[in-house]
Amino acid sequence: MTPAAEEFVTPLTFSVLSKQPVLCKFSDAGGNWNNHVELANRADLVLIAPASANTIAKMASGICDNLLLAICLSAPCPVYLAPAMDREMYSHFTVKSNLETLKKNNITIIPASNGELASGLHGEGRMAEPEDIITLLQKVEAGTLPLSGKKALVSAGPTFEAIDPVRFIGNHSSGKMGFAIAEELARKGAKVTLIHGPVQIETLNKNITTVPVTSAAEMRKACVRVFPQSDITIMAAAVADYEPEKVERKKIKKSGRTLILNLKPTPDILAELGSVKKEKQLLIGFALETDNEEENARLKLKKKNLDAIVLNSLQDKGAGPGSDLNRIAIMDKHNKTHKFELKPKTDVATDIVTYIIKLTKNR
Ligand code: CTP
Repeated sequence: MTPAAEEFVTPLTFSVLSKQPVLCKFSDAGGNWNNHVELANRADLVLIAPASANTIAKMASGICDNLLLAICLSAPCPVYLAPAMDREMYSHFTVKSNLETLKKNNITIIPASNGELASGLHGEGRMAEPEDIITLLQKVEAGTLPLSGKKALVSAGPTFEAIDPVRFIGNHSSGKMGFAIAEELARKGAKVTLIHGPVQIETLNKNITTVPVTSAAEMRKACVRVFPQSDITIMAAAVADYEPEKVERKKIKKSGRTLILNLKPTPDILAELGSVKKEKQLLIGFALETDNEEENARLKLKKKNLDAIVLNSLQDKGAGPGSDLNRIAIMDKHNKTHKFELKPKTDVATDIVTYIIKLTKNR
């Protein structure tokens, strides 16, 4: 229990009702040290319910000035938070961004619901019902999350095509979208292989195996190797469409004259996967279009034999490659289009994975 929790309920009441010892401080009255590292290592899972705005803020910035926070900071196991606070606090930008930070770092947030709050007001901020929290954790334990037992392949980031030993052709893709999708698939129970080009981000999720590559040819090789075992494949990578015909072995010296580089097409990985795709495999591509968006995306969907294509719009300021926001539409092979609002890429990933879960259920 945190000092704040002790103000609500005494440790004695808690201990009597739970029939468990209750630890509150780094050392107890008898002078025994409550070793937070040992406690963290013993746990299969940590759940903080209710998680206050204060605890959430401290966790997001690594503060560990009480036993519970120190345990969370040392926990090698999954950590779950069930926020509970007043409506205005729950919608406050600091709480939102702290929850976002924790989510990005593999802490699962069990969203608060709408209902009566301790203040007497009604709104979002009421802790998820204890029964629902328990059911969720039991599902995690039993491996019955919606994508438990499924294998997923996600590609992310750019590819770099070498010109000479020091130069390359690349693009602005940050990999954020693909990484967010991989995280969300893993959160929903899938075992994910994430094949990514050169990026500045990483994932610590134990259910994600990362395969770093540099060029389109390397990405193709890795994708072709993993694809046959994948139930769900999402090509979110911004694969270069062209590579230099010849990679110079020595650095090209400047001559003062126009330099012409001859480029040849790279292999279209997605089209190749589509051509060998089995009936039960789900294959999803991305399309980044500047004009005739929907028409072009539909053409790609057909040409590459996809189950669905995610259309990235470049119409919104701050959306698209490199940014944290995205506006998407998902088009399926039955000519249906699902449009979504402009939102953070982590939320877009949730929309995409929720859609995939529906597709897997309909098979
Ligand atoms: N893609 C791929 N291999 C390539 C190029 C693209 O696997 N060599 C994949 C991307 O990961 C994406 C989809 O194909 O999922 C669409 O990529 P995009 O570049 O938008 O379309 P292209 O088919 O390359 O056509 P264009 O660039 O002319 O729009």
